[in-house]
Amino acid sequence: MADLPKGERAADRAIARAIARWFEANARDLPWRLTPRDPWLSVMSEIMLQQTQVARVAERFGEFADRFPTPTAMARASVGDVLAMWSGLGYYRRARMLHACACAIVEQHDGVVPDEARELHSLPGVGRYTAGAVASIAFGKPKPLVDGNVSRVLLRLHGVERAADESGVQAWAWERATDLARASGKLVATYSEGVMELGAMVCTPRAPLCASCPVSKHCRAHQLGMTDRIPKPKTRAIRKPLAISAIVVTDRRGRVLLEPRPASGLWGGLWQPPCVERDAASPISLAKSLDALGVDGLIETQEKPTRFEFATTHRAVTVRVWAAKAVHADRIRRARGGSAAWYSVDSLSDLGLGSAQRRMLFAAGIASPGPNPGQSRRQSPKVEPKDL
Ligand code: ADE
Repeated sequence: MADLPKGERAADRAIARAIARWFEANARDLPWRLTPRDPWLSVMSEIMLQQTQVARVAERFGEFADRFPTPTAMARASVGDVLAMWSGLGYYRRARMLHACACAIVEQHDGVVPDEARELHSLPGVGRYTAGAVASIAFGKPKPLVDGNVSRVLLRLHGVERAADESGVQAWAWERATDLARASGKLVATYSEGVMELGAMVCTPRAPLCASCPVSKHCRAHQLGMTDRIPKPKTRAIRKPLAISAIVVTDRRGRVLLEPRPASGLWGGLWQPPCVERDAASPISLAKSLDALGVDGLIETQEKPTRFEFATTHRAVTVRVWAAKAVHADRIRRARGGSAAWYSVDSLSDLGLGSAQRRMLFAAGIASPGPNPGQSRRQSPKVEPKDL
């Protein structure tokens, strides 16, 4: 970090104060921005906001707040209930983490959200960013937060022509964010939420609105006309290919056979039609799929699959879907064993189905594809290793 700039106390105080005042006047009206803040709703909204657009969380937050107004209410529900409500929000591991977080608050903290960042950070689903956000916004503690938006604001303020994922840059950003959170004093809650809002609404990746920025006079990138070059673009991770062959079987009553995925890993615990997977882009033949699934001879299959592509954070998935009719419904269910069961189309909304799984059913002529956040551009991707 030797070659990265340090802040100055007086300048940091002026910057933090300007951001806090700007936020007080310009904050978007979002459903979790209550006065006073409810710490549990703050935890829940921050976990929902990891990896999902603000607008989408804003649409869905109310149902979660009504159904799970306290950690105790969520801990009393099953993880399946939370997963089912999470349907369409993507990154389903967060639903499991949120439920585990509620249980940990009930078991270890008597149902009361702890106010120290260290204790918050030890909760499931709460990484350093989320701990900093809840500690500062809900409890007024001088704790920092750094995500993609905040890194960009800091790099531009200091005129550092680096990518946010370059070695040393994240450690530097956390150090600068710590200085600024301390310098914000009593205004830390509005400063904290203000700096994320500034990154989302003004100091945007492209065409930032410098004329509306409360700290443009402190901004080196603005002074040097370099906002279009700072930060440097990230090096894109290559997504590994995954081929999935899905067999969507319906019985004579139009019910569809579904089974849960393993609890951990990609789409952990979500429901799906019987699927075969391979770490390759090349297709898996129908014959191989039927054989692997143990349903050969028990179903009548369409000849041609429907194909679609799906991208997750780490995988480029090619899905081939065969619609099939059950010849021996009971034998098929037994052949699949475990928790495989027949579900009517009406009951699908009570199950945790991801966007990819919905699209499999849609490709076979069942249900609607529903929202597809996993495929949309995200406003402020936050991947905290512990959170995902
Ligand atoms: N992104 C992450 N946390 C947020 C918050 N509290 N408000 C708006 N956007 C956010």
